[in-house]
Amino acid sequence: MAQGWIEIRATGPGESKDLASSLLIASGSPGVQEETVDNVAGKLVSHSLWEEETREDEDTSPVRALKAYLRAGDEAALGAVRPNLSRIGWALETSFLKDTDWSEKWKKGLKPIKVKYSGFSVTVKPTWHKLKRSPGEILIDIDPGMAFGTGGHATTKMCLKSILRIVKGGLLPKGPSILDVGTGTGVLAIAAVKLGFKKAVGTDIDKVALKVARKNASLNKTKLSLSAKDLSGIPGKYDLVAANILAGELTRLSRSLNDRIKPGGFLILSGILDSEQAAIEAAFTAIGLQKAFSFNEKEWVALVFGKPAR
Ligand SMILES: C[S@@+](CC[C@H](N)C(=O)[O-])C[C@H]1O[C@@H](n2cnc3c(N)ncnc32)[C@H](O)[C@@H]1O
Repeated sequence: MAQGWIEIRATGPGESKDLASSLLIASGSPGVQEETVDNVAGKLVSHSLWEEETREDEDTSPVRALKAYLRAGDEAALGAVRPNLSRIGWALETSFLKDTDWSEKWKKGLKPIKVKYSGFSVTVKPTWHKLKRSPGEILIDIDPGMAFGTGGHATTKMCLKSILRIVKGGLLPKGPSILDVGTGTGVLAIAAVKLGFKKAVGTDIDKVALKVARKNASLNKTKLSLSAKDLSGIPGKYDLVAANILAGELTRLSRSLNDRIKPGGFLILSGILDSEQAAIEAAFTAIGLQKAFSFNEKEWVALVFGKPAR
């Protein structure tokens, strides 16, 4: 495969920015960065789409620009995403970037993200950002490489919030265990260990993600057990299972996910669009799980289920 990256610059209507961003991520981009037009200087200003505070009042702008990146050689993914974007009024241009140029551009767009729940917080920051930890704050260093999970995407933020709610609400026994299915950078498993989990297992179908997760575990001095195995090959049962993958995969894996949860434990599902929520709820309640709570952000939903204690 060619070394380097295809840089995609997509432009389209502000109201479908989140959907365009989701399509780009689903096609394999490790994330998406947004560019806004500075009307005074007519200059492009790049910032991460994942930066919380900048988002709400920007969606009214008529035209938005997004940057995404695919591995050079992945023309099939590019060919598939182009018509999907076009259907929602988005056009795209591409250019080639060398590895080094990509990592510099990518790094520039990433900012620390703070996720809060009821007075508790977890901050995920890129390693190269200096930040002083405030008392009681959980601080996670992430070097995302080309894996997904810098903490800023709505699906990740809602998982972190769910973990905070479960832990701080005292819903689990002391020193619990977590299975993080589709660990990406390892961000959820690392957060869990920093919040007191005694055992954390992360799986991913992507070997590059596992390498990145291993590096992040070491950066954060947290012990993770990482595996490329299919869920059916992962032994044991866990107090908490988290899976931030796409809805189709969640449905396909519903029984295996359920099998890995201890009675009285919880399951966090993320990566679900509003329009998919009802089907996912039906699929997971049909196998005996009970909906505990949910979070919504933009078009995304995270669902948390409890497994009845025996
Ligand atoms: C959206 S990212 C989530 C990363 C991280 N857990 C987070 O919350 O930010 C999804 C990850 O799941 C992996 N993945 C997708 N399908 C999977 C499956 N069936 N089993 C394990 N990993 C999977 C992808 O390679 C990717 O790294």
